[in-house]
Amino acid sequence: MDLFEYQARDLLASHGVPVLPGGVAETPEQAEAIARDIGQPVVVKAQVKVGGRGKAGGVKLADNPEDAKARAQDILGLDIKGHITHRVMVAQASDIAEEYYFSYLLDRANRTFLAMASKEGGMEIEQLAVERPEALARIPVDAVQGVDEAKAAEIVDAGNFPAEVRDQVIAIAQRLWEVFQQEDATLVEVNPLAKAPDGTVLALDAKVTLDDNASFRHDNRVGLEDTAAADPLEARAKEKHLNYVKLEGEVGIIGNGAGLVMSTLDVVAYAGEEFGGVRPANFLDIGGGASAEVMANGLEIILSDPAVKSVFVNVFGGITACDAVANGIVQALQILGDEATKPLVVRLDGNNVEEGRRILAEANHPLVTVVDTMDGAARRAAELAA
Ligand SMILES: Nc1ncnc2c1ncn2[C@@H]1O[C@H](COP(=O)(O)OP(=O)(O)O)[C@@H](O)[C@H]1O
Ligand SMILES: [Mg+2]
Repeated sequence: MDLFEYQARDLLASHGVPVLPGGVAETPEQAEAIARDIGQPVVVKAQVKVGGRGKAGGVKLADNPEDAKARAQDILGLDIKGHITHRVMVAQASDIAEEYYFSYLLDRANRTFLAMASKEGGMEIEQLAVERPEALARIPVDAVQGVDEAKAAEIVDAGNFPAEVRDQVIAIAQRLWEVFQQEDATLVEVNPLAKAPDGTVLALDAKVTLDDNASFRHDNRVGLEDTAAADPLEARAKEKHLNYVKLEGEVGIIGNGAGLVMSTLDVVAYAGEEFGGVRPANFLDIGGGASAEVMANGLEIILSDPAVKSVFVNVFGGITACDAVANGIVQALQILGDEATKPLVVRLDGNNVEEGRRILAEANHPLVTVVDTMDGAARRAAELAA
């Protein structure tokens, strides 16, 4: 889960990283009120989960509360790389003497954590990384040893930070590691880490990605989720603990096992070319031990997608044998009753397939067609959708 800047800033602050006071607003009037509270000049910043807001006109200075209101008016509703701005953060503005860069991330390619640091931060960091990669230090961090004072010093020195901020940045580097490690993040990035004219170092921007697999051990994550942005079908699927991703097409897909479902998407997209470019409408993996109830939940989500014209149920019987799956489908259709209105193409294979097919044949449901092969079933589902 990616956090908004204002959420990331709160998280950093709770671990003792120096940040500037501010608040989040959904209307120009709220922005004005926060600016009045803070006093002094402020920055009004688009809260969207994408980088490069400054260059896109999403970060504006305001000298007084009226000005903050006007800038919020400009920024709210702004489209930044496809992300519409629904909220702004109004934060105290700082004069900036220097801008640095600091981050921790999960380096999947090298199977380690990585610290990246440079005394040359700011809005051109991507360019720096490409044109002068040597100016951006990359120091692996051992997951067990973490970042103590000595390790922080190693990173800070590799990033060539000036001597007068060295101690401050070493302290901040340890706090940021605490955020990364204790909050189960996969990214903690501060750009710019800025030096104010009086020499104080502050985190002026923060990007944090939290590892969703660790959510169960973090009570403080409640409310961080951007439910407004989530697709409504995905949100409902999530409530039912279904592994569902909405796609753009017309053929609803249910399968068991992520690999099988992904190859089902490919096969359907391929078959759909013949029928005017019919495509899969979703990814849904109901997992190995799918009960009738899980099947019903999955079918219900897919059938309530108005874009869906047909459904392809592609199941390989393993631990849950095909007869159990077939019973699941029959019971699911009973549970759904009149809600089931779209044709279903079912392909079963694997453990106890004969019995599974017999159960479906006996049920003889008017919406269900059983096709023996995956390619044949994909073709039939695409045809029905077209
Ligand atoms: N509180 C602040 N006070 C002064 N300048 C700021 C402040 N926050 C951001 N800036 C300036 O705006 C630039 C862009 O803002 P930032 O938050 O880094 O957004 P992004 O990385 O999405 O462009 C920063 O590099 C910094 O120069
Ligand atoms: Mg930034």
